[in-house]
Amino acid sequence: MKNVLVIHGPNLNLLGEREPGIYGNDDFDSINNEINCQAIKKGFIKCEIFQSNHEGAIIDKLHEARKSFDGIVLNAGAYTHYSYAIRDAIAAIKIPVVEVHLSDIHAREDFRAVSVIKDVCIAQISGYGKESYFMGLDALIEYEERKN
Ligand code: DQA
Repeated sequence: MKNVLVIHGPNLNLLGEREPGIYGNDDFDSINNEINCQAIKKGFIKCEIFQSNHEGAIIDKLHEARKSFDGIVLNAGAYTHYSYAIRDAIAAIKIPVVEVHLSDIHAREDFRAVSVIKDVCIAQISGYGKESYFMGLDALIEYEERKN
């Protein structure tokens, strides 16, 4: 597992400002710095971070990633709950994708407990704040170790 792509979906660019009681006070850039540091510490050689508020852009990035990354950590934001198009894109690529969420999607509104991408991801990690991303990196490493 050398190259990892981290994808943040809609509204996650506003982390730090956005509902801090739910998503925490750390801003988007500082979380990304920490993700980068953790990735390098865990032995990844390259960690790219991408954010988009647009479903199609996330799908394009997933497609692109199949050629240059070994694994993906994806926080699809609200798309998690209804985007069959993102689900199909994950299913279409052969690299492992881990679903992550800062908040505990099972302890909020009913609609958030539903993930249409869960079954095509190797793991779902939810409710650990920014740690969810770091745990997502671990899940990719463990997945590869199990495979070998
Ligand atoms: C989220 C949870 C989603 O329900 C929500 O729409 C988000 C963020 C999380 O990280 O907790 O945008 O994915």
